[in-house]
Amino acid sequence: MIDWSKKGFATRVIHAGQEPDPLTGAVNVPVYLTSTYAQEEIGKNKGYDYSRAGNPTRDALETSLAALEGGTSSHVFGSGMAAITALITMLRTGDHVICGENVYGGTTRMFNEIATRYGIEFTYVDTSDAENVRRALRPQTKLVHIETPTNPLMTLTDIRAVAEVCHEHEVEMSVDNTFMSPYFQRPIEYGADIVMHSTTKFLNGHSDGLGGVLVGTKPEHQERFSFVQKCTGGILSPFECYLVLRGVKTLAVRMKQHDENGRKVAEFLEKHPKVLQVHYPGLETHPQHELAKRQMSGFGSMLAFDVSSPENANDLLKAVRVCTLGESLGGVETLISHPATMTHAATGAKMRKKLGITDGLVRISVGIEDIDDLLGDLEQALGAMGG
Ligand SMILES: Cc1ncc(COP(=O)(O)O)c(C=O)c1O
Repeated sequence: MIDWSKKGFATRVIHAGQEPDPLTGAVNVPVYLTSTYAQEEIGKNKGYDYSRAGNPTRDALETSLAALEGGTSSHVFGSGMAAITALITMLRTGDHVICGENVYGGTTRMFNEIATRYGIEFTYVDTSDAENVRRALRPQTKLVHIETPTNPLMTLTDIRAVAEVCHEHEVEMSVDNTFMSPYFQRPIEYGADIVMHSTTKFLNGHSDGLGGVLVGTKPEHQERFSFVQKCTGGILSPFECYLVLRGVKTLAVRMKQHDENGRKVAEFLEKHPKVLQVHYPGLETHPQHELAKRQMSGFGSMLAFDVSSPENANDLLKAVRVCTLGESLGGVETLISHPATMTHAATGAKMRKKLGITDGLVRISVGIEDIDDLLGDLEQALGAMGG
């Protein structure tokens, strides 16, 4: 048996968890569309008894994702939100969580509207300064949850600095790594205890299925999250596990192209006279460019830019032809959106102002199309503004 964890990333995405099927030699992991398994006698089976508790296609994906993030286990769920919900089941009434103030809106909605009903308390801080995390600590603090870079302004948190604060106080740290994927950023290497992803995005990469994962580093994560899968049932279906397994095989090549295109789009926009500001960690003008170079091995393809007014933003979004106006991110196709009325509508005008999300801000998840077609499309759409 080869230890894939010792191999390079581009090898791991193809082989870890995805070895040829021992029964037939099939080079792709079979999709085990079964709810139950024939048993040999009472208490004797082949390691599986019911698909909520375990399924070989799911096992393959979980092995793969643990290997990619450098964790010891991983558990997949029906969506990113189902994974975050599973994370919160680690907590009890009276526990306290410190959370980045600009994490995905669905995360704060779940925390505020559901988890608080069970007596879990949340404090939201700007985690780009680890001292804010230290100041928010309470004796009851059990978890610090962050996203880096944040959506859509691409603000970074120094994972190592926050992990140090957490470990001094025996608090667990979870990182939503959806924006970077393990190709560019591996939070466990900087001290994070748990990594979370919406696999819906770059890991799947083809915008054809939802999913979520929690990658753990301790035996108790393995025990807890497999128990949560069995008890609450929010698991990822075998077919969708297969879609992620298939997507992951090209993660390395896709991310390289996303990054190359992302840099070119950011540079193009930064020079454009109709663009006020570009938020992209790969630009030298990004205030945390040095941290980005240290913590990430690439800058990815998420960026936001300001076109001064909501009217300009609407003109631009109506005019794009190669880019698709829509929510979500991380697919091979370029998706463009308006945070103030789409992803961050529920954040409210006051909080958007505090975070710096202006009404003229446009977000792009740069895809892997031909770069000249993308730049040409943006050029003509910027030209349509104010028309
Ligand atoms: C950073 C981040 N985390 C979590 C989620 C939630 O994932 P899902 O839509 O798969 O439930 C999203 C969705 O957009 C996201 O962008």
